[in-house]
Parts: sequence; structure tokens; C-alpha cells
Amino acid sequence: MPSFGSSLLVPSLPVGWGSTGAQTAYTRDASAYETRTSAFETYRRRLVDLLPLRRGDVVLDVGCGTGLCFERVRSRIGAEGVIVGVDASRDMLAVAADRVAERGWHNVILVQSPVEEAELPVIADHAMFCATHDVLQSGDALDNVVGHVRDGGTVAAAGGKWAAPWAVALNAGILALHAPYVRDFAGFDRPWAAHLAPRLNRLRVQEVAMGGGYLASGTVPPRAVPLVAGPIDRGDQESADDRADGTRG
Ligand SMILES: C[S@@+](CC[C@H](N)C(=O)[O-])C[C@H]1O[C@@H](n2cnc3c(N)ncnc32)[C@H](O)[C@@H]1O
Repeated sequence: MPSFGSSLLVPSLPVGWGSTGAQTAYTRDASAYETRTSAFETYRRRLVDLLPLRRGDVVLDVGCGTGLCFERVRSRIGAEGVIVGVDASRDMLAVAADRVAERGWHNVILVQSPVEEAELPVIADHAMFCATHDVLQSGDALDNVVGHVRDGGTVAAAGGKWAAPWAVALNAGILALHAPYVRDFAGFDRPWAAHLAPRLNRLRVQEVAMGGGYLASGTVPPRAVPLVAGPIDRGDQESADDRADGTRG
């Protein structure tokens, strides 16, 4: 498995992305994001645990934000694995890049782009979506992600959802909790149903938090012609030090 001299930011942010509506939560408030969503930490852990990770695996963290799932993923794939974090928000990825630099990790690639058009430099073993409702409602985003996961790889998602309609007070709380981070609540009753479920085999869904959240996972169906991973494009970011002494993150 290749190593990386540093994380890689690929700037391809469309003009205007992140400037309106819910996305202000990812621009002005990116540094406060971790504190505000700390209650979700247990579900981040449970989401990562749905992936059958092995050392050396390549994992796509879709809508990775500030990289709050990186630590747990990396503890299981080791320095020889690779995390590719994709996010459209420059500010969220800047916090993620600081996290990567502070930990001294050399096997994290950060791709700044809408998922729909992201150029993903890997065929991944697994992919995850943590609290990314808007991404899950995009068929183009799902096509791009699932198209970069190997046959049989696991794709897992976790996030908020509406509880039962009679749970009015609970749903009011869910709305308040998620409104800063969700652009469009369409599909919020079953966030996995429109685009994730049709693209995977054996999607299993577990409701959590009294129906106010879910965990889901399934596997990528075999293709007629299996995807083959090519060499990972490290751009010009591989450090001369790494080449010289062969160290890894
Ligand atoms: C609620 S945050 C979740 C971040 C992280 N996964 C976590 O668990 O903390 C949702 C993230 O998805 C990103 N996002 C939303 N729509 C996107 C899109 N179409 N393409 C890329 N990123 C997107 C946002 O920028 C934001 O960082």
C-alpha cells in the first residue's frame, strides 16, 4: 500500500458553494462544528464499526467535514491504509487538514469538491457517509462514490431522520438539531431509500435514538467487469523525506 508525504487538498470548489443557507454552518462555524455535534460521536463510532476494516484498506469518507471519523478509521486500517476524505467545504477541510497535520498522519488524502464531480484517486475497499443527508439524496453523488468502491466493498451511512409522525416534540428537537447542517429535508423520513438502497446489495437499516437516527450498510454488487485499482495519484505531495527514508504515517 502506498504511503503519502502529506495530505492533499484538491481545490475545485464551485463559485458560491457554501455561501448560503445551511452551508454557513460549514463556513463561519467550521471550528465550532466539533463541539456542536459532539452528541453524535457515539454514532460516528458505530458507523465506522459497520465497516469490516482490515489493515491496509482504502476508505472513502464522503462528506468528511472536519475529519471526526478519521481517528477511528485509521486505528483499524493502520498507517499502511489510506483514507480519502471528500468535502465541498474549504473551511471544514481546513480543520480536517490541521487534524491530519497535528497527528502526523501521512496516509490521508483530502479532496475539496462536491461529491457529484469529485475526482476520486482510488478504488476504495469501503465507503462511509456520516451525517451527510444532502449527499445521500443525490443520485450523481452516489454513482460517483459507489463507482469507486470495489465489488463486495461495504458502504455504510449514519445520520438523522424523522421519528414517527406522532412524536411531535421529538421531531421538533430533530429539526432544531439538524437544520444548520441540512440543505433540504426531502427524504428525511428514510434517507437511505431513494439512492443508497437501490445501489447496494443487502442494505440493512437500524433505527437508533428513538427513531431520530439510523445506521445503514450494504455491499457493492459484483460488476460484469470488476474494477481494478490503479496506482494512487499522489500528485506532487509525496515528501522527499519519505522517498529518502521510506517512512510512513
Ligand atoms: C454534517 S457535516 C458531517 C461531517 C462529518 N462526516 C461528521 O461526521 O462530522 C456534512 C458535510 O457534508 C459536506 N457536504 C454536503 N453536501 C456536499 C456535497 N454535495 N459534496 C461534498 N460535500 C458535501 C458539508 O460540507 C459538510 O462538511
